[in-house]
Amino acid sequence: MSQTIYAAIAGAGHYVPEKVLTNADLEKMVDTSDEWIRTRTGIRERRIAAEGELTSHMGAAAANMALEQAGIAAADVDAIYVATCTPDMIFPSTACLIQAALGAEHAYGYDISSACAGFLMALDTAAAAIESGRVKTALVIGAEKLSSVTDWTSRDTCVLFGDGAGAVVLTASDRPGLKSSMLGVDGNQADILYIPAGGCKNPATEETVRQHQHYIHMAGRETFKIAVNTMVEAAQTAISRAGLTADDIAWMIFHQANWRIIDAVAKRLGKGYVDRAVMNLDRYGNTSAATIPIALSETVAEGKIKSGDNLLLVAFGGGLSWGGAVVEWL
Ligand code: ACO
Repeated sequence: MSQTIYAAIAGAGHYVPEKVLTNADLEKMVDTSDEWIRTRTGIRERRIAAEGELTSHMGAAAANMALEQAGIAAADVDAIYVATCTPDMIFPSTACLIQAALGAEHAYGYDISSACAGFLMALDTAAAAIESGRVKTALVIGAEKLSSVTDWTSRDTCVLFGDGAGAVVLTASDRPGLKSSMLGVDGNQADILYIPAGGCKNPATEETVRQHQHYIHMAGRETFKIAVNTMVEAAQTAISRAGLTADDIAWMIFHQANWRIIDAVAKRLGKGYVDRAVMNLDRYGNTSAATIPIALSETVAEGKIKSGDNLLLVAFGGGLSWGGAVVEWL
């Protein structure tokens, strides 16, 4: 009988651009205040890519760090899955550009578009490829240059987003690293969080540019409510599919959109869970598909995660789309 193949994380990495945009800087750009942004979102500052610095550059930097931590050469990577809603171009995929930048000569790759839930979609895809035996080593990358789709004249959205990338190396293992995964979408609510133009529905015209339709549009209050309920459900499903209870979770690494969302979800999971919720959105804001791998990589780099720890990953974003996963750090 052939042995069951599991998928496990062998290394994590991240990259954020050097340029810091603080709430005080935003006060000079739109009618907002540091106090409003901090209390409503928890964000103090975010990183903004330099001119010419692209999603593929940030993704490749994060991937290089993850490969180094895993002790795996780029030439040994079989597949590259890039979660992004801000690809360098419509095509070729950002995965192709990262493959070239890394010199991952034996890898195939493609992009996965699922906004803020993209990293968990990509993780699930990579795990399935590994568990099937077709792929041994995969890079799963979440990379975004959200500053390129942010309306810097709209205080409703421009205070929320930032740029950055995170990555993990996922490898075949004889022990389960990824213990569970749940994913969901609801396209009936596509229009509460979206970029109206730039696709075939509304190709770029002078009018779409004048109407700021190439930027993120969001009904914040509606998104907030759905995010909390959906993330609680995703968390509970992922935990129970892993055969665990919330008590077994060492760290909760949630999508970093708003501290109030993270706080509400953690409290609904049980007493004392807020302390186990990783938060770095004060420094980076919402980097969409990159938030979870950046937070994971930072928590690893800080030495907080030890072997045998169960990590709960939960995301929610445009689509609407969401996901939850439990990963044991082997
Ligand atoms: N500065 C000052 N005032 C502001 C700002 C600002 N930057 N933005 C909005 N306001 C005002 C509003 O105009 C409104 O004023 P009014 O009461 O006079 O009408 C007031 O503040 C309250 O606005 P709300 O939208 O109700 O504020 P809320 O408390 O809901 O916070 C926020 C807004 C931060 C956007 C919150 O709703 C949120 O975090 N939503 C969820 C975001 C999310 O999870 N997104 C998912 C992932 S993103 C992705 O997939 C790309």
